[in-house]
Amino acid sequence: MEGNKGNSELGKILVYGLLIMLAFAGYAKFGIPLVIPEAPPVEEKITGAMTKDQFVAMGDKIFHGKGTCTLCHSPVGGRAPVLDAVGPRSSERIKDPRYKGKAKTGEEYIRESMMEPSTYVVAGFGKPGTNDTVSPMPQINKGAIGLSDVEINAVISYLQKSGGVEVTVPLPTGAAPAAPAGGAEAAAAPKPATTAEEAFNKYGCVTCHVVPGIAEGGDMGPNLTKLAKEAGSRKPGMSGQAYIIESISTPNAYVVKGFEPDMMPSDFAEKITMSEMNLIVNALLGKK
Ligand code: HEC
Ligand code: HEC
Repeated sequence: MEGNKGNSELGKILVYGLLIMLAFAGYAKFGIPLVIPEAPPVEEKITGAMTKDQFVAMGDKIFHGKGTCTLCHSPVGGRAPVLDAVGPRSSERIKDPRYKGKAKTGEEYIRESMMEPSTYVVAGFGKPGTNDTVSPMPQINKGAIGLSDVEINAVISYLQKSGGVEVTVPLPTGAAPAAPAGGAEAAAAPKPATTAEEAFNKYGCVTCHVVPGIAEGGDMGPNLTKLAKEAGSRKPGMSGQAYIIESISTPNAYVVKGFEPDMMPSDFAEKITMSEMNLIVNALLGKK
């Protein structure tokens, strides 16, 4: 199983490499289709009054989409605790002697974990060298993710529902809330990005990296704005372009000094389209 996976990943690098070289060589002009077809976008709107089930469904979508939660909170990889049981667990967390936050209820604990992740750092998951005092999780109401209060409540309702505890967050009622218009748009199913900036946002690269052209980014992974200079010397005999493609397709093939393996998701090669990979690689190489 692992062996096959390795082979298919290597295959993907070769395919990407070849296609990118072809694109650079100008073969794209001869009509080789470089865009993998994707599902048409489905728009999700926040429409004022909602039933509990609709709100939970909205939270589910945000959790698996624009919230970028599953980049870290997924059963594979061990980057972050699995959240299936965070509903019931949340009311226990606040009784932990290590807990120094302000939450009085499970709901408040989950909200605080999202907005001020370092208030309580789950043992073993802190930033390396901080003795579990600093969380690598970004504040999800700020910066690149920027969820609104209503979106945060939707995610909490989803976590409570899937953890089998009572949904305690208020449902949105009456007039549509002001803030989340952009959020609803971003929660729509993905369509192929047409700029590097879009691609970095679409795949959540900015959740963990500062990237060229976007001011705010996370720091769970290395800052990528200087990579154009460094990529070519990371691995002897490997070009910067090939190194960057490999880093994105098979992150563990080379682990950057000061960082740990298994932190970057390893399934981007299955998701990123050819044209998007091209945009990302060019941007990281400092090309326009
Ligand atoms: C860049 C990686 C990353 C992203 C993205 C991320 N988290 Fe986290 N999260 C972590 C890590 C690591 C921890 C454990 C350390 C800590 O307690 O802060 C954590 C902890 C938590 C906890 C506390 C869990 C517990 O058992 O007490 C909750 C709740 C949570 N995250 C929710 C979310 C939600 C919801 C999202 C998306 C809106 C999200 N996280 C996005 C990395 C991430
Ligand atoms: C959940 C966090 C996370 C996400 C999301 C993520 N990365 Fe990473 N990335 C890391 C970490 C941690 C490292 C350093 C460890 C390693 O080398 O694997 C890294 C390393 C890299 C490197 C090598 C950098 C160097 O200095 O050599 C590149 C290139 C890279 N990532 C690109 C991307 C791109 C492009 C995306 C989005 C498609 C992305 N990453 C998404 C965490 C992440």
